[in-house]
Amino acid sequence: MSILVCGGAGYIGSHTVKELIGNYEVVVLDNLSTGYPFLLDDNVTFVNGDLGDEAVLDFVFTTYKIDAVFHFAANSLVGESVEKPLIYYGNNVSATITLLKKMVEYGVGKFIFSSTAATYGIPNTEMITEETATNPINPYGRSKLMVEHILADVALVHDLQYVVLRYFNAAGAHKSGEIGESHEPESHLIPIVLQHLLGQREKISVFGTDYETADGTCVRDYIHVTDLANAHVLAYEGLVSGDISNEIYNLGNGAGYSVQEIIEVCEKVSKKSAVVEYADRRPGDPAVLVASSDKITKALGWKPKYQLQEIIESAWRWHSNEKPGK
Ligand code: UFG
Repeated sequence: MSILVCGGAGYIGSHTVKELIGNYEVVVLDNLSTGYPFLLDDNVTFVNGDLGDEAVLDFVFTTYKIDAVFHFAANSLVGESVEKPLIYYGNNVSATITLLKKMVEYGVGKFIFSSTAATYGIPNTEMITEETATNPINPYGRSKLMVEHILADVALVHDLQYVVLRYFNAAGAHKSGEIGESHEPESHLIPIVLQHLLGQREKISVFGTDYETADGTCVRDYIHVTDLANAHVLAYEGLVSGDISNEIYNLGNGAGYSVQEIIEVCEKVSKKSAVVEYADRRPGDPAVLVASSDKITKALGWKPKYQLQEIIESAWRWHSNEKPGK
């Protein structure tokens, strides 16, 4: 039996593939719109195609014996989602409905879904649990929450068990040094700071210094991508054993770091100084997003292995190591 990883050539998908390989057969479906061939593991079967293409899904489900689907394939930039809502609702919601329809048709009943802290919007608490009200403030967060609702409805009437994983700020790179975070264009804080420290960008802009936080800059919960990847494997194994079914879990470190603190740790790790420009707030940024991941720790024994310094060290190793194709 194989696991179908939709979006397995993307940042988080490719790291999850690394954790599956060796124990599971893996089929990756990816249209390489935001993923990259160099992130694809050599040991997977790769199908280049669209998630929303029924013919592609018919091919995959009739050719391979798929036991479960891990679904990472999505557009995930908050700002872009405001400008291009139809693309986000099309790729993130509509294509997922096509995937679920085909899973039901072919009797594939296990689903692990990549969701996001953006489903919470501007939370009314600093330590976010799964009970915290969801109130997304952009199409990206809404598109993910819509799929969460769809999953709950589908699971009531079809043979489908799912786990929703709400990621906080994914960061870091694989310990092998083979894969890491690569977006084009890059908008995420840690890669931007590291690229600057490597001389690939002139300066860093800090978006907002007047938030109600200790130093005035936004606070986020950074979680190593391999810790995220391991949570997917545990969630799948929990579904297989029957220990869990139809659950939502937060995935974060439980500690918040400000933009200013991130820059300082990047300087320390790289032993270089940054040129920083203080700019206006970026629209749609909540001041503080920090996760409580107690629920998944209690249910599945998941605990993050990597803290901030190690996350940034792994990212620094990946970014400093220029490889062909990167
Ligand atoms: N930031 C800067 N300068 C930059 C880039 C980012 O100051 O050049 C700040 C942002 O304003 C924010 C923080 O750094 O305060 C982190 O920004 P990122 O873009 O790295 O990450 P986000 O918190 O905006 O977004 C991430 C994921 C989203 C997800 C969200 C959930 O990328 O997919 O977390 O909170 F929706």
